[in-house]
Amino acid sequence: MVASGFKYNGTKKVFFAKYKDGKWENGSLTDSLNFEISALASALQYGQSVFEGLKAYRAKDGRTLMFRVDKNYERLLRSSARLLIPEIPKELFYEGILETVKANRELVPSYESKGALYVRPSIIGTESVLGIRSANEFLFFVVASPVGNYFNDGFKPIKLYATDFDRAAPNGLGSYKAGANYAGSLYAKKEAVEMGYDDCLYLDPKTHTKLDECGASNVIVITHDNKFMTPQSDSILPSITNNSLQILAKDYLKMEIIRKEIHLDELDGLKEFGAVGTAAVISPVGLIHHHGRDIRFKSHDILEKLYGLLTGIQFGDINENYGWVIEV
Ligand code: PLP
Ligand code: COI
Repeated sequence: MVASGFKYNGTKKVFFAKYKDGKWENGSLTDSLNFEISALASALQYGQSVFEGLKAYRAKDGRTLMFRVDKNYERLLRSSARLLIPEIPKELFYEGILETVKANRELVPSYESKGALYVRPSIIGTESVLGIRSANEFLFFVVASPVGNYFNDGFKPIKLYATDFDRAAPNGLGSYKAGANYAGSLYAKKEAVEMGYDDCLYLDPKTHTKLDECGASNVIVITHDNKFMTPQSDSILPSITNNSLQILAKDYLKMEIIRKEIHLDELDGLKEFGAVGTAAVISPVGLIHHHGRDIRFKSHDILEKLYGLLTGIQFGDINENYGWVIEV
């Protein structure tokens, strides 16, 4: 199985479980993505929805592997609490993920293709609401579909447009994986793509002078003396990929990790720039455009080494002792 691009490429089975009368009910697999929902569901009207994104990888020997699923569970709970969505039990979350991956195993792309089965657990408010309040009924579902690269094929640098739009407000939802953040980013991304860029780079919403993140990924920077830098900000999603790369950079490449506010003015003096996330993996950035100025990054040697380590672990080529990889 080979999947090209990051888009919905079909699925076989979807897992659904309901929350009603104060408790989560047992879940089950169905054949269809479609379900009936009230037009006044809180998810549709007021964006009461949270989700996660993770992947299942095909190892060289045919096994199906997943990476740091526990971190996605923790982040889903954190997002749920912020959106008044009831805590999903760990057993139900794992059952949903594992049953969905097993039922769609034949859709996991081949090892050689370097694609993966993208897994999207989501929780949405389904009760009808009119006044602004949380629903009391929810639906958890897990959809899986094969995907290829989010940006370019291979390790080809992308171009980012530093937008004046914000994806998050100070003390808003920026650090949570809420559907609403992505609704707010659609216009900015369309504008950037129409101007020939691959994605937007969002700046800090208070001062518009510091780096935040991209619409679907964190950013990392490598300095000329090979230090790993990543923005410290309250309005970015705590990326599991970024966290993993920091650990790998420190342990394997003996790099110093610096989390700090990164001003746009500093970028000229930096060596490599990458967009990192489950979908983006590590995408090297060749150019950032901001207010008539182009900032270029010509090298991506360290990013390539990190890419080799991360994907080597995810696809089972490199053994790890962190307890990150599970077989499904
Ligand atoms: N930032 C945003 C806004 C994202 O949507 C994602 C994707 O999940 C990330 C960062 C990267 O997070 P992760 O590495 O956990 O996939
Ligand atoms: C992911 O990388 O898993 C994401 O959720 C990004 C997605 C919004 C395209």
